[in-house]
Amino acid sequence: MSFLTLTHLKKSYGQVQVVHDFNMSIEKGEFISFLGPSGCGKTTILRMIAGFETITDGTITIAGKNQNDLKPNQRNIGMVFQAYALFPNMTVFDNVAFGLKIAKVAKPDIEKRVMEMLKLIHLEHLKDRYPYQMSGGQQQRVALARALAPRPQVLLLDEPLSALDAKIRVSLREEIRQIQRQLGITTVFVTHDQEEALSISDRIVVMNAGRADQIGTPFEIYNSPQTRFVASFVGTLNLIEAKILDNSSNTLQIGDQQVRVKRPVGKPTGETVTIALRPEAGSLSEGAKSDVQLTGTVSSSHFLGSVIRTRLDVGGTTLCFDSFNDPAIKPPTIGEKVTLKFAADDLMIITD
Ligand SMILES: Nc1ncnc2c1ncn2[C@@H]1O[C@H](COP(=O)(O)OP(=O)(O)O)[C@@H](O)[C@H]1O
Ligand SMILES: [Mg+2]
Repeated sequence: MSFLTLTHLKKSYGQVQVVHDFNMSIEKGEFISFLGPSGCGKTTILRMIAGFETITDGTITIAGKNQNDLKPNQRNIGMVFQAYALFPNMTVFDNVAFGLKIAKVAKPDIEKRVMEMLKLIHLEHLKDRYPYQMSGGQQQRVALARALAPRPQVLLLDEPLSALDAKIRVSLREEIRQIQRQLGITTVFVTHDQEEALSISDRIVVMNAGRADQIGTPFEIYNSPQTRFVASFVGTLNLIEAKILDNSSNTLQIGDQQVRVKRPVGKPTGETVTIALRPEAGSLSEGAKSDVQLTGTVSSSHFLGSVIRTRLDVGGTTLCFDSFNDPAIKPPTIGEKVTLKFAADDLMIITD
């Protein structure tokens, strides 16, 4: 049975509806990311789950129990915010102890639990520090420990990494995921960073203007985006307008060339469809397995270190593709004529 359910959830501020009929069932122990651009309603949904925001319509249940009329402190939910929301006048120890004191846990038990939490985030040695004496990453680990100390049934994380440096962001997201797995706590993580969502989630909800455009595993979201929005928001993508030359054989015209795709084109002959191709799907190498080839002229080539990103003009259509750096192979040069090979399966058809 699902542990956390959001059913026909809606939110309006005055006349403006910011969450439209949002539905989601989350399993116990699952790590879910809400991924979407700024203003799409991620924080609003999180705050409704936590009870900080009233629900305009719909139902929230946790472990089968309706939460709609419960106050935030009756829901047993832990939350971590983007800004370091630690109490500035309290030590690390007292910050982590806060929720336990409110819950009137006995002093020796508080002490034991706080030290357990500090061990979990590897900051036992900083227990007497104040927030201003710590780095941003350390403060967010304390915020996580503070949220987890009262043993919440659900953990909500609202862009907890977005104020941190790139390197810390990556190491801390791995640490969060590892702690989440260790505790088996049901977690909703909000981010606008697609790489972050892809790297740590069991499932991702891609949100667009208050709606869930697609819900799926990172693999599904990346490899089979169902809408144009998902396709362009998650990862880099070539979106190519192609004319259907024959819908019975799935033959399309791209630029000045014909290709056959494997997925059904979904529209009649003569119409135009959008096809999508990931930049890493193509290859220039002689031996590459391919059932589709497109020949074009290199219009730009950028050396990015491990990857070389090249733009190819195929009869007026531009394709962008990536190849791995290989010191033994000279990168493509501008004006050079090359043939890009890829599997017909890699051509995705965007229907929406
Ligand atoms: N208290 C509020 N009053 C009116 N509009 C709000 C309020 N809070 C958020 N909004 C609006 O709701 C929409 C969703 O906001 P939010 O959930 O914060 O988005 P996100 O977290 O995805 O960036 C935005 O258009 C925002 O301006
Ligand atoms: Mg937000």
